[in-house]
Amino acid sequence: MPHAPPAFPPGFLWGAATSAYQIEGAPEADGKGLSIWDVFSRTPGNCRNDETGDIACDHYHRFREDVALMRELGLRAYRFSISWPRVVPDGEGAVNPAGLDFYARLVDALLEAGIRPFPTLYHWDLPQALQERHGGWQSRRTAEAFARYAGIVARHLSDRVRDIFTINEFASFVDMGHCGLEVDTGARRLTIRLAPGLSLSRKALGQVRHHAVLAQGLAVRAIRAEGRPGTRCGPAENLTTAVPAIATPAHVAAAERATRDMNVGYLTVMLEGHYPDWYLDGPEGPEVAPGDLAAIAEPVDFVGLNLYRPAAYVLADESPRGWRALPFAKSHPRMGSAWHSLGPEVLYWACRQVDALWGPRDIFITESGCAADDTPGPDGSIADTDRLMYLRATLASLQRACAEGLPVRGHFAWSLMDNYEWTDGYARRFGLVHVDFETQRRTPKFSALWYRDLIGANALL
Ligand code: FCB
Repeated sequence: MPHAPPAFPPGFLWGAATSAYQIEGAPEADGKGLSIWDVFSRTPGNCRNDETGDIACDHYHRFREDVALMRELGLRAYRFSISWPRVVPDGEGAVNPAGLDFYARLVDALLEAGIRPFPTLYHWDLPQALQERHGGWQSRRTAEAFARYAGIVARHLSDRVRDIFTINEFASFVDMGHCGLEVDTGARRLTIRLAPGLSLSRKALGQVRHHAVLAQGLAVRAIRAEGRPGTRCGPAENLTTAVPAIATPAHVAAAERATRDMNVGYLTVMLEGHYPDWYLDGPEGPEVAPGDLAAIAEPVDFVGLNLYRPAAYVLADESPRGWRALPFAKSHPRMGSAWHSLGPEVLYWACRQVDALWGPRDIFITESGCAADDTPGPDGSIADTDRLMYLRATLASLQRACAEGLPVRGHFAWSLMDNYEWTDGYARRFGLVHVDFETQRRTPKFSALWYRDLIGANALL
């Protein structure tokens, strides 16, 4: 019998993702304002070797070359982020036409190359002025300023851009930026901190979280008001996902409850429109102004999921909440980043749970990928067999979701190219394409060539 490779649905959208601060460089070019990441990374002690995104992949000056590379790799879609302080330098005042123009030129180049643009409006680079004036996300004025900026982008780009992701990974910039977030990897517990590097009380953290989801809802309204009819939008969230430790109906249902509970201040409230009493009465319960919940639950067109690791393997139990998490084993395997416990089945379970809890609506995998050591061989080629293994395993899990009819519409590999990995600096290479940061030379790794063939076949190869 001939073997047919497992296929993806016709029209499945294959892409790759990046973000502004991680690739653009040019932090003060053409009127751009500073962001909290410019300030945080330049403050000694915050990032590995005090590395910054000042140059990164120099994409601001090399975007045409990068689009040409995307075309060579056969990408059908590209998820990038727009730097808020490039477009509105102080976050809430005058618009910088040169900043908007950069993204208009990028979008035009993508469309010319037959690549569908999926901009994200906020990938963590808050205008520093908003941090200084209002305490950033601690103030609802930042949520309002974000909605205004979302409307400006929609007005200027929605003649060419059909799909907009609002905010990237709420829990990352909220929890890791305002308190530090503890991650259990089995081998050790890590506390990850991101810009602006605050240590707020849990009460104040809960309020920041509320302002972030409020910003998402207000931005959806602004995009609907200012964008062309038919402009689609939604969040790109790193769903904290509980994977059932045993896939029997009781444990599957328990894992679903766990995912709903663990995302209570994020996707759960965005898609359900209310906070449960246990959360409101708890230490992180926010003050909610009249009308906030209706705004937060403004209907979205799709949900983007950034999926790297299961948050926990979960079992049903007799406790009031009905679930418990297994601790990660000390020897649980991980990929290049210290936080990256391996669990490729998370793609399948996250899609299934989102659909069961809140569906049906379109789902995109907005990020999935891994860091690896990626050393060029004597002939300059990069045989990233570990990334190949990782991508095959995660995409097999995604193919299962598609085969079961779950409404997954596309997949964006993180990342198009090696870039500035936040506090890990340039030490963690996530790209399908290798970047030599001395010369800015781009070299597709083996995984990029594999991904190109997979896209051509629309099947797992
Ligand atoms: C995600 C971020 C992205 C990148 C990957 C590795 O949490 O959204 O910018 O850093 O992790």
